[in-house]
Amino acid sequence: MKIISYNQLIIISLNTILMALCSGCSPSDIPGCEDSTGLYEYASYPVGVAIDLFDLQNDTIYRNIAIRQFNSITPENIFKAAWLHPEENTFAWTEADQLAYFCSQYGKRLHGHTLIWHEDLPSWIVNFQGNSADWEELFKSHIQTIVTHFKDKVKAWDVVNEAFNEDGTLRNTIWKQKVGSAYIEKAFRYTHEADPDVLLFYNDVNLEQNAGKRKAVLVFLNDLRNRGITIDGIGLQMHVNIIYPEISQMVDAMKDVADNKYLVHLSELDISVNPYSKQITPSHSLLVDQAILLGKIIQNYNQIPSKFRYGVTFWGISDKNSWIPGHFNRTDYPLLYDGTYSPKPAYCLLKESL
Ligand code: XIL
Repeated sequence: MKIISYNQLIIISLNTILMALCSGCSPSDIPGCEDSTGLYEYASYPVGVAIDLFDLQNDTIYRNIAIRQFNSITPENIFKAAWLHPEENTFAWTEADQLAYFCSQYGKRLHGHTLIWHEDLPSWIVNFQGNSADWEELFKSHIQTIVTHFKDKVKAWDVVNEAFNEDGTLRNTIWKQKVGSAYIEKAFRYTHEADPDVLLFYNDVNLEQNAGKRKAVLVFLNDLRNRGITIDGIGLQMHVNIIYPEISQMVDAMKDVADNKYLVHLSELDISVNPYSKQITPSHSLLVDQAILLGKIIQNYNQIPSKFRYGVTFWGISDKNSWIPGHFNRTDYPLLYDGTYSPKPAYCLLKESL
């Protein structure tokens, strides 16, 4: 009898599903593709999405999909420092509170993103003049005021985002310069102090493909842990594309994080189909390639021990909501729904794979 590997098994079962993905058929012809049932109902862990409050309040279809399909919400932008803390003595809670209320109203887990990052800082922080004690006070009160405000509303925080360079050294952020090299440790400490019940994550990009960077992050976080700092999980952002990284690299990353006993959050998942910025149209075969890759990612995520599966979060609902076209100035179709909110093959295969 021929013994087949787990990965071969995945491919065989995905191919069976894909036989049904006839070329040119409408989403309703594809098994599992009608979206009246929610994605989260198919999963043993939360299935999340990055949400834009303006769209949530002004676009009924977007709102209905958010409510129906997902049970975890990450604010795409409005919990970042520039939005929440626009002036030294002003915290702008109104919009963030509206999103938190939406989550409590509909029973969605709220994932806080993010307390300490070098981007999307308000100008008052960038231009702040003060000695090291003043910076320490700014840093601590920024974290603790926000964490205290959202106590019992936010389930977990991305305490620190993107603190490492690709070569595994610490990024020379304004926080490192002004608060010192121990700023990451301090950020985790201050967050835990303000809310001992909230889960604490470190979140970063390219940890899937860059094993050296991942190792550096793990060595660093393990050292903090050994010194008594609480760190519950790691967010693998998973801004990937249909060519790179290899699925095996993504699988290694998930396993590595779980083996080191951190919760694994696929925190900002999107799958670009146009990494080389060409003139493209979203052909069926391209979207099927995207679906197959997503299916493999999810089926492999399902293999890590359940106690480490914090969940999977997509970085937006539909292709028209994605950050990629604007940010990288290219046409792309990286998400589960197309620009008219029809579920794509990736949505269908996701449902089969969860
Ligand atoms: C992005 C948002 O999606 C954009 O709307 C915004 O203009 C820039 O930030 N890594 C992160 C996210 O941790 O916060 C970023 O989100 C995408 C990259």
